[in-house]
Amino acid sequence: MISITELTKTYNYKKSNAFTALNDIYLTIEDGEMIAVVGASGSGKSTLLNMIGCIDSAEKGKCVINGIDVNNLSENKRTEFRANNIGFVIQDFALIESYMVLDNILIPTYFVKKQKDTKKKALDLLKQLGLEDMKNKTVSKLSGGQKQRVAIARALINEPSILLADEPTGSLDTKTSAEIMELFKSLNEQGRTVVIVTHDPKVAEQCGRVIEISDGKIISK
Ligand SMILES: Nc1ncnc2c1ncn2[C@@H]1O[C@H](COP(=O)(O)OP(=O)(O)O)[C@@H](O)[C@H]1O
Ligand SMILES: [Mg+2]
Repeated sequence: MISITELTKTYNYKKSNAFTALNDIYLTIEDGEMIAVVGASGSGKSTLLNMIGCIDSAEKGKCVINGIDVNNLSENKRTEFRANNIGFVIQDFALIESYMVLDNILIPTYFVKKQKDTKKKALDLLKQLGLEDMKNKTVSKLSGGQKQRVAIARALINEPSILLADEPTGSLDTKTSAEIMELFKSLNEQGRTVVIVTHDPKVAEQCGRVIEISDGKIISK
C-alpha cells in the first residue's frame, strides 16, 4: 500500500524563488490498483510521481510505501528502496541509445544485491514484451513503441511491486499507444500496482481510478 499524508514539496525551499509544487497532499493507493494521474501542465503530476518513485523528497509529510516512510529516509536508503520496490518508466524513455537492448534492461540489476540469473530474467521479459528478436539490436535502431517496451522491461527487471510511468504514451502514435496500454493493463493484472501520469483521456479511462491534480492540490480521487 502507498499512503501519503500531509505531503508538501517546495522547490528551492527557503529561497526567494521557492515554489510549492505539492501542497498538503493526502492519498492512499491500495496494492494492485491501476491509477491515472491527470491535470494541467505544471500542476504537480511529475512531482507527485517522483515522490512515490523515491527520486526526490519533500520538506514535509509522509509517503509510506510497503510500511516504510520513504520521504524521511536518507538519500542512500531511498535509492536502495527504489531499486528494490519501484519500476519507473520516465518520459522519453531515458535509454542509452548506443547500448544493445539487453544491456539497457540489465542496468538496474547493478544497483541491487543478491541478483541471480539476471540475463535469463531479461530474456524472459523480452519474450513477454514481444521483443525477443531485438535483444542484440542497438536501441537507436528501434521504433518509439519498441523503445518504450525496452524502457518498461528495464523498469521490471528487479521485479518491483510498483510500476510508475510518466506520460508513457506522450510521444507514441495512437495504435502504439493502445498497445502500450494493453501491456500496462496486463502487468497490472499480474498483480503490480500501476500509476500512470497522462494527458490523454483515452489512457485515463482505461485505469481503475483517476486522480486529478490542480495547482499542487488533489481535487478529485
Ligand atoms: N526542479 C524544479 N525546480 C523548480 N521548479 C520546478 C522543478 N520541477 C518542477 N518545478 C515546478 O513545479 C511545478 C510542477 O511541476 P511538475 O510536477 O513537473 O508538473 P506536471 O508534471 O504536472 O507538468 C511547475 O510549476 C514546475 O515549473
Ligand atoms: Mg510532468
